[in-house]
Amino acid sequence: MIRPFSLSDLDSILQIEKQSFPKSPYHRTTFLNLHCLYPETFLVYVNPPTSQPDVSNSPSTQPQAGRVSADMEQGYSVIPKGKNLDSVELIHPTYDQKVEIFGYIVFSRDGHIISIAVHSKHRRKGIGKQLLQRAMRTLHLKRVWAEVRNSNHGAQAFYSKMGFQMIGVVPNYYGNEDALIVQWSPIA
Ligand SMILES: CC(C)(COP(=O)(O)OP(=O)(O)OC[C@H]1O[C@@H](n2cnc3c(N)ncnc32)[C@H](O)[C@@H]1OP(=O)(O)O)[C@@H](O)C(=O)NCCC(=O)NCCS
Repeated sequence: MIRPFSLSDLDSILQIEKQSFPKSPYHRTTFLNLHCLYPETFLVYVNPPTSQPDVSNSPSTQPQAGRVSADMEQGYSVIPKGKNLDSVELIHPTYDQKVEIFGYIVFSRDGHIISIAVHSKHRRKGIGKQLLQRAMRTLHLKRVWAEVRNSNHGAQAFYSKMGFQMIGVVPNYYGNEDALIVQWSPIA
């Protein structure tokens, strides 16, 4: 499932970032800025929950009298007949699978892929393709383009498979390494 980035994803994104770009990982504050700049096009791929919460037998659904507090707003209450509000029981749905971030993409409104990465455990499963297609299917974009390290043959093969073409080189873009500019256009 692909959804917009939220702040609770930040630590997972940083972990993917460090393993994907060991030479020049983005800093935490860079991602916070990207979140502010591109709230609609900073997207994450998360594993879909495999099952709905089972509230019938789970021990966590057993009544536990508690105080209603702001941080319990996500739960829901069960108020047995005849009880007063002091004994309201709050129940939080339990999911048997934790949400895990598998990858992310950030692109600008004019089609620049600012970053894309998939956790190494989950590569070659079509996740990068789905993320990149989100940018490619953004209807108003006349082109989608990215910089790729000269030495990053995996990403070059990925973009090529996705129909991108190499259109130029920026010498020393990464300090001592050139960037290849790859581009895709819906009208090409
Ligand atoms: C590039 C990256 C995002 C691709 O993500 P992914 O989820 O593994 O890619 P997909 O599974 O969607 O690959 C789609 C197709 O692209 C090609 N491809 C992807 N990675 C490839 C690789 N390392 N070598 C050769 N071809 C590759 C394949 O044709 C693949 O289809 P196939 O697996 O059926 O053969 C991922 O490898 C990554 O995070 N790399 C590190 C970060 C990075 O380099 N980002 C790009 C910076 S510009």
